[in-house]
Amino acid sequence: MIRTTQRLLLLLTATAVAACSADDAPDLEEALAKDHYSFANVEQFVTENIVLDLSVDFEERVLSGSAMLFMRRIDLDARDIVLDTRDLTIEEVHFLVSQGKEWEEIPAEHTVGETDALLGTPLTIHIPDSLADAKQIVPVVVYRTSPESTALGWLPPELTAGGKHPMLYSQSQAIHARSWIPLQDTPAVRFTYLARVRTPPGLIALMSAENDPDAERDGDYYFEMPQPIPSYLMAIAAGNLHFAPIGEDTGVYAEPELLEESAFEFADTQAMFETAEAMFGPYQWGRYDLLILPPSFPYGGMENPRLSFLTPSLLAGDRSLVSVVAHELAHSWSGNLVTNQTWRDGWLNEGWTSYLEHRLMQVIYDEDRAAEENLLSYEELLLNFERIDPKYQALAPRIAEFDLDAGHGMIIYHKGNLFLQYLENAYGREIFDQFITDYFSDFAFQVITTEDFVDYLDQRLLSVHHGILSREQVERWMYEPGLPDDAVIPTSRNLDDAADLAAKWSRGEIDASELPVSDWSAQATIHFINALDPNLSTEQLVEIDNAFGLSDTQNAEIGRTWFIQVAKRRHEPAYEQMAEHLRRFGRVRLIRPIYVALAENGSDLDLAKELFDTARGTYHPIANAYIGPVFEEPQPAE
Ligand code: BES
Ligand code: ZN
Repeated sequence: MIRTTQRLLLLLTATAVAACSADDAPDLEEALAKDHYSFANVEQFVTENIVLDLSVDFEERVLSGSAMLFMRRIDLDARDIVLDTRDLTIEEVHFLVSQGKEWEEIPAEHTVGETDALLGTPLTIHIPDSLADAKQIVPVVVYRTSPESTALGWLPPELTAGGKHPMLYSQSQAIHARSWIPLQDTPAVRFTYLARVRTPPGLIALMSAENDPDAERDGDYYFEMPQPIPSYLMAIAAGNLHFAPIGEDTGVYAEPELLEESAFEFADTQAMFETAEAMFGPYQWGRYDLLILPPSFPYGGMENPRLSFLTPSLLAGDRSLVSVVAHELAHSWSGNLVTNQTWRDGWLNEGWTSYLEHRLMQVIYDEDRAAEENLLSYEELLLNFERIDPKYQALAPRIAEFDLDAGHGMIIYHKGNLFLQYLENAYGREIFDQFITDYFSDFAFQVITTEDFVDYLDQRLLSVHHGILSREQVERWMYEPGLPDDAVIPTSRNLDDAADLAAKWSRGEIDASELPVSDWSAQATIHFINALDPNLSTEQLVEIDNAFGLSDTQNAEIGRTWFIQVAKRRHEPAYEQMAEHLRRFGRVRLIRPIYVALAENGSDLDLAKELFDTARGTYHPIANAYIGPVFEEPQPAE
């Protein structure tokens, strides 16, 4: 064990010293506010650095190896370290004690606690008498994951683009890191990491860390993440992945079959990167690369630092869906640099990021496109308000037992975006832009709560520029359902025009051939579909499908919008293509609302179950966990 990690430990000495000596460490008091989704006793111990040594076994669908946690002990009386785990087999636990340049192993007693369906299983490691006074504690857990690990997607070759090599990728947010690493799985603690990952030769491993695209593909890879990150940003992927540069700081990893397409689709990433730095302050993470995953990736994107993970459903061929890249890039500031302290503060990550995404889209594309996307988001928000319990419509609900899944809708994204647009509108761009850069530099590498944010806003904006907005107006956004009356409602001339034409065509006043479809953006087409009269005949639906090529669209968001309507209206002529869409994509946003619409249309619950049973083997465990309950009780559709 010790021999295999020598090189990591050498590397570690430098990082560990740097991490310990930093006096700008986050205020621990704040980092300790209660996270209901972790067993970790972070008020007694905090992880500062993790050293991973993992082997990827595609046959068994298992990661195995060890995690060394370099922890600072805050409470010298504390004798038990509690870590989060889920479905891990713990093989052995010991402590490492540094004796000058050598590391000595001391055996450790540990207990595996009772499993909670949501939280997983606490692992308690007991500190022996010989370490009773130690302020630095280094438990080492030797373990293996289970094939059921909720974070890990294990793909057989036939579910990849190339069809020849298997692939693995992780999705740790929100509380899945614990299913592949035993750790303090809470956003309140930040740590640096080093890792060694072994794969079958020929495949490459990548992590949310410094990656070397030219690494020899010998199956043995080393990683370093020198900036402290929360556990939900731990990420790993392995497969036949290759690299293409986009710009000086940016590039894309994908299977060779998708590489050229991906480099084309995301060619604007370098410009986004430069614009983001100019608007939000320095990028703190070195490079910014993208990783294009297979269709089973359950999200549009995931902001794993230095390497955003993306769904291939963004490959529309016309760059029409790249706002997701703007979004994940923006998380390099909102979320990765300034992090929500608990998931109840999730709007600080997602609402801020949606706003920054909007700002980037205005510059990289134009006001019209940004306005179209802004209006679509607002309409999605209104749909969410119809279906989500009012107590979860606040940006940061004041609920002791905050329910992570109830917050799963898009409210924190779109309402958070509108809140920040409201501030921008009230104070003007010049003042608000200064506020943005100050905010990111003042809280860099820290975790904050909603209340920290409101205090800061009060100090830096409300109280400085008197008489513009009151704290009470701000708190209405934070703590009350719906939207305040003085919210600025998005508008888009292009989308209004599309909706007018939808109404005219629905009433038979114009012919489908008169619709200027080829001039429309994907966003206008989506709006048009949503604006169609609810009582169209089957013939009319067939006509519009043919005119727009909706059932055969290459644009996954247009497909999503259309097939939701197909399912709601029971438009059976398009059911085969709808089923194909459900088999083709595993991104929750693209498929779950269609299952919900089928389950709720009064006739197709059995069909929905059947379709899910056929496809679920190709979905990620996270997608299955979200979709499974759709067939049990009424669900928010998103
Ligand atoms: N961080 C999220 C994904 C996420 C959120 C995973 C909560 C687990 C729990 C990511 O940045 C995201 O928001 N993705 C969106 C992108 C979209 C809003 C532009 C997605 O996947 O749809
Ligand atoms: Zn996000």
